[in-house]
Amino acid sequence: NDHYEELLFVSSKFGPLDLTKKSGVQLPMRLSSLGVGELVGEVGGFLAIFKPPKAIRGGIPICFPQFSSHGFLEQHGFARNRFWTVESDPPPFPTKPSNNAFIDLILRPSEEDLKIWPHSFEFRLRVALGPGGDLMLTSRIRNTNADGKPFTFTFAYHTYFSVSDISEVRVEGLETLDYLDNLQNKERFTEQGDAITFESEVDKIYLSTPMKIAILDHEKKRTFVIRKDGLPDAVVWNPWDKKAKAMADFGDDEYKHMLCVEAAAIEKPITLKPGEEWRGRQELSAVPSSYCSGQ
Ligand code: BG6
Repeated sequence: NDHYEELLFVSSKFGPLDLTKKSGVQLPMRLSSLGVGELVGEVGGFLAIFKPPKAIRGGIPICFPQFSSHGFLEQHGFARNRFWTVESDPPPFPTKPSNNAFIDLILRPSEEDLKIWPHSFEFRLRVALGPGGDLMLTSRIRNTNADGKPFTFTFAYHTYFSVSDISEVRVEGLETLDYLDNLQNKERFTEQGDAITFESEVDKIYLSTPMKIAILDHEKKRTFVIRKDGLPDAVVWNPWDKKAKAMADFGDDEYKHMLCVEAAAIEKPITLKPGEEWRGRQELSAVPSSYCSGQ
């Protein structure tokens, strides 16, 4: 339908996509290639590698069933490296407004996946565009284990935001919160003072954050607003110069123009019994900076 075409068009900006394929088949598109124009960073414009089985750097890779190296699976879990199936006949939008364009993508474990993570699940990701250009992602993960066993996972929407100059960016909503610092053995600290600014490498997991976080880009006079639900934590990551140079799929200077702020559930992993479902939602919008000043 028209909505489906519209979303495919949007995602095609970020990755190889065969528009001749119909819904209900596997697309030559991976989830990490989804994104909306300027809203989600086009990091790796020149150096991102569009070759399975690795995730494409940029967009919104999905970290599941494990965030980062917090477990025994590969970094950030396997979901971001898999092909997803387009749901040909998705259930309707449960909430208003119902005029959002949306697509449902489904991931179920393959035989190979079950060998490394022996749990049966259905992951339904609804990617929706609001009339004003907002991008809404809703993940529904259901335990479909027939053996009666629960499973536990961590999760993140690893969102790359495009910013004009990282040194001029402020993140509001995380001040005074506790965080785990990935650069200091995941030790726990408390953020002091004002909004977060950037002058060196950052890799932190903020804990029990508010539902709304803002990224203020002064040069562009634009603010990205993240609203989230079911995702208490928020990762803030910028590799800065040395790590940028060390990453094969990341330009040496691209760290200046990106920031990852990732709605996540990490500190308290989610456990689902058979038949249970978890829901985690992220909404992104871009507004003129004045909208958020003084918050
Ligand atoms: C962040 C992690 O979410 O992702 C960082 O906190 C990690 O530790 C970064 O370096 C990028 O991960 P990757 O696997 O995409 O290079």
